[in-house]
Amino acid sequence: IPVGPFDYVVFGGTGDLAERKLLPALYHRQIMGQFTDPTRIIAASRAAMTDQGYREFAVKALREHLKPEEIDDAQLKAFTDRLFYVSVDATSEQGWDALKDILEPGKERVRAFYLAVAPAIFGEIAQKIHDHKLITKQTRIVVEKPIGRDLASAMELNSTLGRVFREDQIFRIDHYLGKETVQNLMALRFANALYEPLWNSAHIDHVQITVAESVGLESRAGYYDKAGALRDMVQNHILQLVCLVAMEVPSSMDAEAVRDEKLKVLRALKPIDEYNVERLTVRGQYRAGASSGGPVKGYLEELEGGVSNTETFVAIKAELGNWRWAGVPFYIRTGKRMATRVSEIVITFKPIPHSIFEPAAGRIEANQLIIRLQPDEGVKQWLMIKDPGPGGMRLRNVPLDMTFARAFDVRNADAYERLLLDVIRSNQTLFMRRDEVEAAWRWIDPILKAWETTGQQVQGYTAGTWGPSQAIALIERDGRTWHES
Ligand code: BG6
Repeated sequence: IPVGPFDYVVFGGTGDLAERKLLPALYHRQIMGQFTDPTRIIAASRAAMTDQGYREFAVKALREHLKPEEIDDAQLKAFTDRLFYVSVDATSEQGWDALKDILEPGKERVRAFYLAVAPAIFGEIAQKIHDHKLITKQTRIVVEKPIGRDLASAMELNSTLGRVFREDQIFRIDHYLGKETVQNLMALRFANALYEPLWNSAHIDHVQITVAESVGLESRAGYYDKAGALRDMVQNHILQLVCLVAMEVPSSMDAEAVRDEKLKVLRALKPIDEYNVERLTVRGQYRAGASSGGPVKGYLEELEGGVSNTETFVAIKAELGNWRWAGVPFYIRTGKRMATRVSEIVITFKPIPHSIFEPAAGRIEANQLIIRLQPDEGVKQWLMIKDPGPGGMRLRNVPLDMTFARAFDVRNADAYERLLLDVIRSNQTLFMRRDEVEAAWRWIDPILKAWETTGQQVQGYTAGTWGPSQAIALIERDGRTWHES
């Protein structure tokens, strides 16, 4: 469904995020016919550049980041005609009048400011947008993670944004919420009668969430070494997944209804502090090894300083203190330079209470539901069935396999494609509310502090493996194993 004309102002319009994600996502929406004239995308950044210069920049970015068959010359032309450029310095007065001038003719349109810049200047930009009277009734602001580096800084940033924008105008992006399978988790749970009665501690043994990456630091040492895996991945993406798995059924898909339920999950997370941190968490850091078919450097060699206790891997046994999930561990792990790139949620149901089969029938595995976020998005429900044939009763564990690419002949849209237009539609369901972000930090902060007070060191793991052996011990101690992805 096309959306009415709007102006998207992208601060950091020449940056990495705009180049790799935002421009391709917006181009795809153009192809889908979702823009109504005279929709404009206005890139803002410090560099001096003309509209034409930016259009050339965008074409180059699109050719680099899209498949050749996705590029259609007529569409490309129609898309680049929507692009404009304004040179604006977020930290001085330079360029703000020009930005105001370009926005003036579109005064009545929906206007979105996307801050694809360093979070340190989010506050300053928001203030300048306000001071230059660029906020109309129909204005929204979009911010990327990281929202703070602890609770105090997140609250400060939220307050700064809150002084200028109403909460319903602030869109905090967590791109994991835009992933196809993440949304499918809601469909699976709430559009089927099958799972919900079983979705609790009486029937579920434990939950695993793995977000494994094969990439290393890329060129982000400056940011990453100060953040680490807990802040970079767990505080946001992984806790959002925990919320969607664990939340109660919201009364509707309304943004507040969904986010109220997610908030309750975050608040129910049992605290991890200096007394249990060593038992419940594992920190890892990759050493030299092999990845994607070639040798790769260790984390410390990639850093210029060469000394760091920052974790590139973290595994946590998390628990929720509420009736639905009492005693059901959520094992989570994420890391860079792991054996492969895979993100999945594994729900392991309790074993059957009693077997009526002879031992010769084979082992009866507990049922597992596997929700695969990437790659090969899809859902698999593993079930025990009888091995076909006359050979007597032999049991086999087989999946009901719903790999989306095979089941549906559609291109899997990037997470940003969905989220960017939800901003225009003013639909906040897939965005994080202020109290959610802060509740997540309220759980993360004590872990960070406990690592510091206990001096918990990172454990080395060879690049291209599943993390340090302590992470395996974390789950095996409970008589369980990580799902082999
Ligand atoms: C980002 C993190 O938020 O998510 C990166 O900062 C990480 O470190 C990325 O690589 C992973 O996203 P995706 O969509 O590739 O799983």
